[in-house]
Amino acid sequence: MATEEEILARMKPGCVCKGIKLHRIIEAIEQGATSFEQIAKITGIGGGSCGAKRCRKKVAALLKKKTAITPETA
Ligand code: FES
Repeated sequence: MATEEEILARMKPGCVCKGIKLHRIIEAIEQGATSFEQIAKITGIGGGSCGAKRCRKKVAALLKKKTAITPETA
């Protein structure tokens, strides 16, 4: 059974420009991605009209939360 956090991640946007949900980013991190570039390659995020300004921040926060990787190394 999915946790409340997992359910919310399926509804919340991860990359607004590309229409990719937050759970796709989380799955990429759980599969071993450790940088924005790796996550972008797996999920297709980034490269939208904002130039990844919005989704890069979300990825940095998720990497920090889930892997203790700081945004400077993300
Ligand atoms: S939100 Fe991801 S490229 Fe704009």
